Amino acid sequence: MKADPLNVLIVGSGGREHALAEACRRSPRAGRLLAAPGNAGIAAICRCLPIAVDDVDGLVDAAEQEQVDFVVVGPEVPLSLGLVDRLADAGIAAFGPTAAGARLEASKSFTKDLLLKNSIPTAGARTVKDSAAAARWLDQAAFPVVVKADGLAAGKGVVICADRDEALRTVRDMLAGTAFGASGKTVLLEEFLEGEEASLHLLVSGRDFKVLPTSQDHKRAGEGDTGLNTGGMGAYSPAPVLEGPMLDSVIETIARPSVEAIASAGIDFRGVLFIGLMLTTDGPKVLEFNTRFGDPETQVILPRIQSDVLELLHHTAHGRLARAELKVRPEHALCVVLAADGYPEAYPKGDPITLPATTGGDGFIYHAGTAATADGTLVTAGGRVLGVTGIGADLPAAAAAAYRLADRISFASKYCRRDIGHRELGRLTPKP
Ligand code: AMP
Ligand code: GLY
Repeated sequence: MKADPLNVLIVGSGGREHALAEACRRSPRAGRLLAAPGNAGIAAICRCLPIAVDDVDGLVDAAEQEQVDFVVVGPEVPLSLGLVDRLADAGIAAFGPTAAGARLEASKSFTKDLLLKNSIPTAGARTVKDSAAAARWLDQAAFPVVVKADGLAAGKGVVICADRDEALRTVRDMLAGTAFGASGKTVLLEEFLEGEEASLHLLVSGRDFKVLPTSQDHKRAGEGDTGLNTGGMGAYSPAPVLEGPMLDSVIETIARPSVEAIASAGIDFRGVLFIGLMLTTDGPKVLEFNTRFGDPETQVILPRIQSDVLELLHHTAHGRLARAELKVRPEHALCVVLAADGYPEAYPKGDPITLPATTGGDGFIYHAGTAATADGTLVTAGGRVLGVTGIGADLPAAAAAAYRLADRISFASKYCRRDIGHRELGRLTPKP
């Protein structure tokens, strides 16, 4: 029996959502595709509705009016605002956790408690609500320490502090609510972990889970991992540091017990659990949970999935994950983000963008901060403008494909890191 086509609404406007939209477009199940609010690239695939991601009422109304069968939620903010709960009340299925599940990202102290209670490896930490408690903990701490705002802070709520004074100042700023608003009212003090970071994405449906391709992100703005933290300047998949016995160990010591712990806490989690890991000399440890796909990790994970991604997401949402097929291509993928120079601080907007007429067989151009002007000119409209993914038989080939394509794109403020994949590429060709 052939299943009915699905009318799908994709919520979000970044490169991640463009990759999700592209994967949905390729699905034989795809009916009408909509996005809110989308971007200029997504608009080539989906009809875009001008509704912001935090306008839960607007999104639910639109999903009802447009007779949407399935909503795929990209970013964390609508998840934590309960979009999926509200859609369920309206009888509309969605990929992404309810607000209860989204708390695993929206409250770092909630997740830390869950990890520690279940003996899942993570950095030792203390939650504080006042600076006197922070001062007591800092008296016995080894430096550096990591100070984290409890709530969502768009990737900016983490400060590594070299000494007690800096840590105490950071805690006070967060508690005073000046630096991170309501997100900083509870603060986590955490042991500093050393090692290499890697990302593991799981599709989770209650107690069932499937492991998506491994990846590694590059969070710093500058080459050699220097400069300010960003949403991510590039990524690649697979991440060989997280393959083989290391992956087996992460699945058994972290992924499986985490999924069990979440279910045992009474959360029927249906969506993606993105586990940020630090691979320390003491073994892999959890840095954080995100309850959505990573950006730009998605731009290297989805092109490697051979199976029908829309079916996978739909089965996950309906608690039928065990039935879904997940086949991964052996090819490597590498994504380089083309940003507007200045990002993540001030940067220009409105620069006209020139794209190549075709991408060739080995690449994808995912739009993030792009818009079309009234006369149809494609212009920059955000800090991360485009994500260019190259595919190759190995990582060097994927990197070459990505940079070949990236070099055919121009806009005045274009900036990208030239060293995406450097850790793994350096291991492949050790320095003399
Ligand atoms: P988070 O949002 O918790 O993943 O933190 C953002 C970034 O801060 C991570 O990707 C790490 O680079 C860094 N970080 C967070 N926690 C720690 C830690 N305990 N030790 C060292 N670095 C950390
Ligand atoms: N690239 C990291 C994130 O999406 O949180």
